[in-house]
Amino acid sequence: MQRTVLITGASRGIGRAVAEQLLANGHRLCLGLRDPARLKGTPLESECVLPVPYDAGQPEQAEALVDAAIRWAGGADALIHCAGILHRTPLLFADGQEAELEELWRVNVMGPWWLTRAAWPQLRSSGHGRIQVLVSMSGTRVKGRMAGYPVSKFALMALCQSMRNEGFDHGIRVTAICPSWVNTAMAQWVSSVPSESMTQPQDLACLMGNLLDLPNAAVPFEIAVNCALET
Ligand SMILES: NC(=O)c1ccc[n+]([C@@H]2O[C@H](COP(=O)([O-])OP(=O)(O)OC[C@H]3O[C@@H](n4cnc5c(N)ncnc54)[C@H](OP(=O)(O)O)[C@@H]3O)[C@@H](O)[C@H]2O)c1
Repeated sequence: MQRTVLITGASRGIGRAVAEQLLANGHRLCLGLRDPARLKGTPLESECVLPVPYDAGQPEQAEALVDAAIRWAGGADALIHCAGILHRTPLLFADGQEAELEELWRVNVMGPWWLTRAAWPQLRSSGHGRIQVLVSMSGTRVKGRMAGYPVSKFALMALCQSMRNEGFDHGIRVTAICPSWVNTAMAQWVSSVPSESMTQPQDLACLMGNLLDLPNAAVPFEIAVNCALET
């Protein structure tokens, strides 16, 4: 089934790989990007792709993104949240570092929340709406000494569960994608796993593309993707 898919975070990293995969799979894409000009000269410069200015911290841009999809394609029946940030803010954060916590909340939690709220009528009316959310293994357990990022991802996981509960009877299926390290700029500082041993964005994109083909009765709620054994 060809879908019209709203995707955030497609300028680079996982979102970029997902957008390229879904375009190759024959879907129409409406991409929310802070800088739409970055698609020029890339495989995503296509008549099947609509780039729209979108900053996850600006709620009115969530409404504008959905309106643009409605004008362009008559609606949208899938939403993929890939935009996100990582700050390594510790439990005992320094004075002033609370700004990082506020940004984590705004981008990682409220961004998906505002956009889901805006797209909900479209997803609901399709009868087979899909929402995929790049959460993280950090939305299921806490490791290491950073507190701010996993706190935002646990909240995002709670948002996924709320979306699943409220959308299920309307045919909306939600999948929380929970990778450990993925080889993107976000994981460049990680030394415990070499980048070639991390999950590659293209492999996640393939998985997420296949998920979109599943019928309402077969969509998993959560997919954990580990690049290294966790006991
Ligand atoms: N990489 C990992 O190891 C890993 C593991 C688990 C989960 N995740 C999650 O997967 C998602 C994607 O991560 P990634 O690895 O692809 O990261 P990335 O390579 O750093 O890309 C982040 C993406 O988010 C966008 N973004 C950031 N802030 C934004 C904002 N305020 N408004 C709109 N877009 C914004 C960026 O756009 P710009 O180009 O405009 O900055 C970029 O497209 C994130 O939610 C992340 O937490 C990543």
